[in-house]
Order: sequence, then C-alpha cells, then structure tokens
Amino acid sequence: MFPVVITGPRLTLREFRTDDLDASMAVVGDPDVTRTLSFDARSRKDQAERLAQDITRAQAQPRPDYYLAIADSTHLLVGFIRIGLGRDNSGELGYAIRREDWGKGYATEAATLMLNFGFDTLHLHRIQAACGPDNHASQRLLARLAFTPEGRIRDHVFTNGAWRDSLLYSILEHEWRRQQFPMGKAQ
Ligand SMILES: CC(C)(COP(=O)(O)OP(=O)(O)OC[C@H]1O[C@@H](n2cnc3c(N)ncnc32)[C@H](O)[C@@H]1OP(=O)(O)O)[C@@H](O)C(=O)NCCC(=O)NCCS
Repeated sequence: MFPVVITGPRLTLREFRTDDLDASMAVVGDPDVTRTLSFDARSRKDQAERLAQDITRAQAQPRPDYYLAIADSTHLLVGFIRIGLGRDNSGELGYAIRREDWGKGYATEAATLMLNFGFDTLHLHRIQAACGPDNHASQRLLARLAFTPEGRIRDHVFTNGAWRDSLLYSILEHEWRRQQFPMGKAQ
C-alpha cells in the first residue's frame, strides 16, 4: 500500500519526502533521542542516504515495513513511527519524537494511529515492541497502550559502544480491540 496517509486529531502519519532531511536531523541526529534507540546518532550525510533509501523502500512490493513520518499541524516532521512486518501476521513497532516535543502526548497519538492501521488495515494478529530497561517513557507509553510485558532479551542491540538488553512487549488484536483507547475508539 503506497502512499499511506493517516490523520489524527493533531498529527498526520505520512510517507517520508526528500525535504524532510533538515527536520529529521532533530530526531535521528540528536544523541538525546537516539540514546534509547537501536542506532547511534547519524550525520547529515548519513541521514541523507538513509532518507533516500527509506523513500525507495516505501515503494517496494511487497512492503517490508511501514516507516512513516509523524507530522504536526504545520506539516513539519516531529518524529517517526514504524511497523516492521514479520511472519504470521506479526509486526514490530518503533517510534521516536524530537526532543522539544516530548511530553505532549505525540507518541501516544501516533502509536494509537499506527496500531489501528496495523490491526484494521494490515490485519496483523500480534504487534511487539522492544525498549531499553531504562527507557521509562517508552515503557509508560506501552503500558498505556495495554501492551503486555513478555520478558527481557539479553544483549539485544549494540549501540553507543556496548551491548544492551531490551524489554519485550506485545499486544494481540483482540486485546487492542477491547481496551479503552487513549484517543477514542478504533475506527
Ligand atoms: C519514548 C518517546 C517516543 C515518548 O514520546 P512522547 O511524545 O514524549 O510520549 P507521550 O507524551 O505520548 O507520553 C507517553 C507516556 O510516557 C510518559 N512519559 C513521557 N516522558 C516520560 C519520562 N521522561 N519519564 C517517564 N514517563 C514519561 C507520559 O507521562 C505518558 O504516560 P501517561 O499517558 O501514563 O501519562 C520519546 O521520549 C522519545 O522519542 N524518546 C527517544 C526515542 C525512544 O526512546 N523511542 C522508543 C524506543 S523503544
């Protein structure tokens, strides 16, 4: 499916564009943001190459993932969100918001939109997410979205020069449908 546009009360999830480069550096180029991600902060040159690859990959058939920009009401990119597609109708969720917009509920809104898309449109059965044991914001977000903790993955990622564990969470389709949605009922 391409292009994808998902609209919420304050945010829009949309495909990346080449003119997202400057705004995307406030996310993937900021060590405060990438400290809890599975990759190190990128240079502008690296991000220009990655962005071009992301734009091309979005048009692959079948799509390996839905990696989307999170844009605010001014159409500015303020973060990213991704569902990577796995076997047996499974997906893996990832997200990041630029530092100056933390704590505004943007990740809650973007993740709710993406989970609705994953279960309703992509017909996924299970969506998982992994986050660092010290990433309290992400753990709080996943708990709020009714994800279930499944355990600890040892030495899951190598970032900033060290192996790091992750906590694994998941939500199943019927669990998503029966919960109280942070943003209202699923469409
Ligand atoms: C994790 C992240 C995406 C949260 O984004 P956000 O837009 O600030 O999150 P929200 O405002 O929607 O808040 C989500 C929940 O986390 C809580 N929260 C936000 N920041 C927090 C913090 N620093 N410590 C503890 N809880 C926090 C909020 O209170 C909210 O919980 P509540 O609804 O129960 O009150 C953001 O901190 C980020 O981009 N971090 C760096 C990248 C990252 O770690 N991505 C996730 C990898 S697993």
